[in-house]
Amino acid sequence: MSRIVLATHNQGKVAELHRILGDLDVVGLDDFPGAPDVPETELTFEGNALLKARAIAAFTGLPAVADDSGLCVDALNGMPGVLSARWSGRFGAGGDRDAANLRLVLDQIADVADGRRGASFVCAAALVVPGGAEHCVEGRMHGTVIREPRGTGGFGYDPVFLPEGGTRTTAELTPAEKDAISHRGRAFRALAEIVPDALKAAGLA
Ligand code: IMP
Repeated sequence: MSRIVLATHNQGKVAELHRILGDLDVVGLDDFPGAPDVPETELTFEGNALLKARAIAAFTGLPAVADDSGLCVDALNGMPGVLSARWSGRFGAGGDRDAANLRLVLDQIADVADGRRGASFVCAAALVVPGGAEHCVEGRMHGTVIREPRGTGGFGYDPVFLPEGGTRTTAELTPAEKDAISHRGRAFRALAEIVPDALKAAGLA
């Protein structure tokens, strides 16, 4: 069975990609001690996803998938975008940082009228095959930023994001409901269409 490595320590993401890729053996970075922690220095989601996938393909010698994602708010000219995780200037993982990021965005657009609070979650997913080609696809989920957080599921900006046509925030959806419409689910499913041919072309499947 072909092996593919996803550039993350998040087992939830590994499980999600495994469900989508079906008969491929998907592993995460926990299986590769010493794998580089690649700084996201590019200005686009695509640039960062490719940067990470290239580094992990080079380190492991395996086909590598990496994703980069964030929230793009219309009233902020597409920001926080690639800076979503660091928007409030706090570093390190966890609820505090997520809550500070979310609160800052709410405060920044406090005066923006209800009809102008459009936003999109965006995810770029890259595949790099050692000695083979590079691919990158994008998934988006459109919606609006509400005024106060609702729901306890998800992470990051989920409690203030209302998907288009829905009545619950992405923090009020089940994981399966979110996967079905999310930027990451869409990007991973688009990448799944490319993976078999990309591996075949490199003689790996
Ligand atoms: P990264 O792709 O791990 O760099 O995540 C970037 C940041 O974007 C996260 O820390 C969140 O703040 C935000 N983000 C990305 N995807 C989601 C999502 O599905 N829900 C909520 N926030 C998200």
